[in-house]
Amino acid sequence: MAGGFDRRWAELLPVGRDGTTGGYRRFAWTREDHTLREWFAGECGALGLDLTEDRMGNQWAWWGDPDAAPGVVIGSHLDSVPDGGAYDGPLGVVSALAAVQALQEEGFRPSVPIGVVNFGDEEGARFGVACAGSRVITGAMTAERALGLRDADGVSMAEALRATGRGLDLGPDPATLARVGSFVELHVEQGKALALMDPATSAVAVGTDIWPHGRWRADFAGRADHAGTTALADRTDAMLEAAAFALAAREAAARRDDHEHRCVATVGKLEVTPGGINAIPSHVTAWLDARSPREDLVQGVIADLHGLFPEALREESWTPATRFDETLTLRVRDALGETTPLLGTGAGHDAGILANAGVPTTMLFVRNPTGSSHTPEEHADAADCHAGVDALVTVVKELAA
Ligand code: GLV
Ligand code: MN
Ligand code: MN
Ligand code: MN
Repeated sequence: MAGGFDRRWAELLPVGRDGTTGGYRRFAWTREDHTLREWFAGECGALGLDLTEDRMGNQWAWWGDPDAAPGVVIGSHLDSVPDGGAYDGPLGVVSALAAVQALQEEGFRPSVPIGVVNFGDEEGARFGVACAGSRVITGAMTAERALGLRDADGVSMAEALRATGRGLDLGPDPATLARVGSFVELHVEQGKALALMDPATSAVAVGTDIWPHGRWRADFAGRADHAGTTALADRTDAMLEAAAFALAAREAAARRDDHEHRCVATVGKLEVTPGGINAIPSHVTAWLDARSPREDLVQGVIADLHGLFPEALREESWTPATRFDETLTLRVRDALGETTPLLGTGAGHDAGILANAGVPTTMLFVRNPTGSSHTPEEHADAADCHAGVDALVTVVKELAA
């Protein structure tokens, strides 16, 4: 009884898939994003759900009157990182739709409204700030800041929204958040913890917490000139500083990383100007992602880098340590059976942004045999995906009986 999971999963597979890498490119406010949003709307309509959008364009579909009582909301996001896997995000949305279908088919009558959400721009792949959709409606990011963010082509979010025919009236949306009595985001696990446990009891785990994490950008200036005719002594090459920055970030994290407490730092994106193989870089922007279960360790990495590159470094986003609602987490765990594992994560999620805004929130993680994520290697077996749908069905029945 997987509630039409397989049919929906198969429909989404071709959208935004790169034929060469097998990875997905589903970025906010692009054609692919539009296709996914339309697909979501169609699926919600077919289930008889009423679709609304909040003040950031996140899609909420309701079974029952959302203003009758605070509802139980499930769902996730459909966008991806560059060359991402199929599961990060879509698994939560497709599982939520399948759970609603399964509940309807068995004649379940919810005592409170049930919502399915598709958050926009979770990965921040295009405009740089992750969870832009949930940050704006919770007030964690201002509308001005969001509208002014620019993609690699210099297109601002305001221009991207206008190009899709949308208004620019973004902002905090307490009325939408007030409808959310509890939010349970199902997600593929982005590590190997479940795959290493007893196979009989570890297809699905319940989330406990999200590590504190943030994004920073560092800008390095040089002077463009000819790569063949300019003597080394006469160059100001912005790439050299950027390379030193990437190494220093790695070293600052490694000094703090041990078996008890992980500490990680990644420079995963560079923008090089002018970007010619035969031109000395006149400007490099390096993007840093740093995380640890301990906030003081992340801040230590950043303090070290500020010391070394005082002019260059600027914070882009920060998400503090997040603990999911303990009462909700344990209630969900007990509903799924007391042997269900509890798991924390170093990955960020809209569930974390909502939790930090005071919404009772928890997560479900579905086993990933490769342990990899943000790459096409990311995987979940069909049987485990179905177990995830069953888990959502159980959870909704527990919370909305
Ligand atoms: C988003 O998936 C993140 O954790 O970076
Ligand atoms: Mn992700
Ligand atoms: Mn995700
Ligand atoms: Mn994420």
